[in-house]
Amino acid sequence: MNDTWTPDEHGDERPSNHSANPHFEDILAARIDRRGILRGGLVAAIGGLFSTSILSSGMFPGSAKADAGSTLLGFKPVSVGLSDAIVVPEGYRADVLIPWGEPIAGNFPAFALENSADDQAQQIGSHHDGMHFFPIDGSAEDGLLVLNHEYVEPRFMHASMVGGEYDSEGVLIVDGKRDADAVRKEANGHGVSVVRIKKQADGAWAVVRDPLNRRVTALTPMTISGPVGGSDFAKTKYSPDGTMTRGTINNCANGFTPWNTYLTCEENWAGYFRNGDTADQKPDLPREQERYGVPTGEGRYAWELAAGAPDEFVRFDVSVKGATPADDYRNEPNGFGWIVEIDPFDPASVPVKRTALGRFAHEGLVFAPVVEGRPFVAYSGDDARFEYIYKYVSNAPYAAATANGSLLDDGTLYVARFNADGSGDWLALKFGENGLTAENGFASQADVLVNTRLAADHVGATKMDRPEWGAVDPRNGAVYFTLTNNTRRTQVQVDPANPRAANAFGHIIRWTEDGGDQAAPRFAWDLFVIAGDKNQSKTFAGHALGEDSIFACPDGLWFDADARLWIQTDIGESEQNKGALEPFGNNQMLCADPNTGEIRRFLTGPVGQEITGIAMSPDQRTMFINVQHPGATTTAEGFKAGTLSSRWPDGGAAYPRSATVVITKLDGGVIGS
Ligand code: FEO
Ligand code: CA
Ligand code: CA
Repeated sequence: MNDTWTPDEHGDERPSNHSANPHFEDILAARIDRRGILRGGLVAAIGGLFSTSILSSGMFPGSAKADAGSTLLGFKPVSVGLSDAIVVPEGYRADVLIPWGEPIAGNFPAFALENSADDQAQQIGSHHDGMHFFPIDGSAEDGLLVLNHEYVEPRFMHASMVGGEYDSEGVLIVDGKRDADAVRKEANGHGVSVVRIKKQADGAWAVVRDPLNRRVTALTPMTISGPVGGSDFAKTKYSPDGTMTRGTINNCANGFTPWNTYLTCEENWAGYFRNGDTADQKPDLPREQERYGVPTGEGRYAWELAAGAPDEFVRFDVSVKGATPADDYRNEPNGFGWIVEIDPFDPASVPVKRTALGRFAHEGLVFAPVVEGRPFVAYSGDDARFEYIYKYVSNAPYAAATANGSLLDDGTLYVARFNADGSGDWLALKFGENGLTAENGFASQADVLVNTRLAADHVGATKMDRPEWGAVDPRNGAVYFTLTNNTRRTQVQVDPANPRAANAFGHIIRWTEDGGDQAAPRFAWDLFVIAGDKNQSKTFAGHALGEDSIFACPDGLWFDADARLWIQTDIGESEQNKGALEPFGNNQMLCADPNTGEIRRFLTGPVGQEITGIAMSPDQRTMFINVQHPGATTTAEGFKAGTLSSRWPDGGAAYPRSATVVITKLDGGVIGS
């Protein structure tokens, strides 16, 4: 998209897939003609309902055609929530830990709205998202919690903005400039926190002031590894040899490796940049910016306008200014859109951008269980409307004794095609294969990866309804992915894998790889659940969701070790508790039994937030989840008048803060049991 950046739902990317890949209207037509599989189901699919044949093909081991009587789910469901609080089932407690601004490192500056940029660099960042708990010495009560900070809400983070007005970026721009310390504070509010936490004698968890505690921010130096590292695409004024960049931004969901490192995923990064280049009085952006929607007006927070023109912020204006790429920041966006590996146990380690995993709006990365001597496999969704689902297969076999991050530099990236008959194909994004050749405009593997979306368009991937988190069933390798919503899908664009036009509620798709081989080139898929209210939902077992299970906009998705499937929702702040989304209340977390399809609501959150990020202690007796952007439903007028929609978690007159929530069972039992 070349039009001026306007804030969409907390920075979600607007559609930029203009490829001619089939939306399945042709496939659907062919399916009626040749197989007639859908028959009644076709009318249903086109009418916004669903085909039972798509909902269950019976290929999931242990999947019974019933959705009651789960022995996995042992808790009493909670009601839809409207209160400005966390609500958990009877017999559970929920405690707030590490809200934005909690000091964790350096000289531990106490939280205050007046905190400087330097203070923020020693405190927990904002807008908590994906997260993982790394036990220390195998402990279930002592470990490193590592979490993403997806973005910031400047109006809630600067004392100078209290009760005032702000411009369309949600920031203050005075005489065409932004206050440099405010910009730096926002940059330091992004990234990742590594924080040691420990269970105390009274059962509560607390921060440990440990030398392993660390902040990684939008300014931290990082290496660019894999095929794009050192290529012409990565050369900038900061790194003329193309091996380095600064920072990670819009870190949404996450992953973790079998070799005990953390993976943070760059999602809606494109909007942070701006490119004012024109030709014939029209925007003139290179394809590796245009296909990702780099704005032509101001960047998301107008960081490029930082007063005094510090180089670390000048780089967000990626217009051509110098004689060569090493003289300006035209290539700066090519350092973003990646998955970044961080070793939480080495605070001096330099984070690494692993380019072989592809460049797109990465939601997260989920590993299938590794098998000694076999390549490992990991999955990642591109969360934008009509984008794709990817799988990475390492070239080298996995060996526990020697495995390390280099396995993420050398592998094959595939993109998914969901066929109408319930089969699927993984299409390799490999230079020289599947038409990814010089004749078709691809010069190298680095080119294929920098332009992952274009390569995926070219091989004919299936356009999905905003792929968010994936999760792999630890018992059988079945892969589940949330497709959060896509209200822009039209009737004619409906397909069996994305069966609803104007899909406001989302669904969860799943598949098994052929022959139980996670690296297989083909798979078989069905839909686990189509979300919605009682009249517009269905589980694979054929039942509608009920009072205890209705939900919309699935986003976070995670299997615990007992194969409970946890589902977190993200109804956008402009939609919450309104219109068709009104029945679902505040964003929530549910738990599903993948065998029976039963779903029960486990938790509801405060006002204006989304529930996202999930981790557990290895004994499954402590669960960590994140509450992101409480109070985001506050209007500009309400902000000015001091009538905020949420005061969570501090209450009183405090501004709302994102925070982690620790969930335990009063009897000390396994969460969810
Ligand atoms: Fe940051 Fe796709 O949610
Ligand atoms: Ca998300
Ligand atoms: Ca989301």
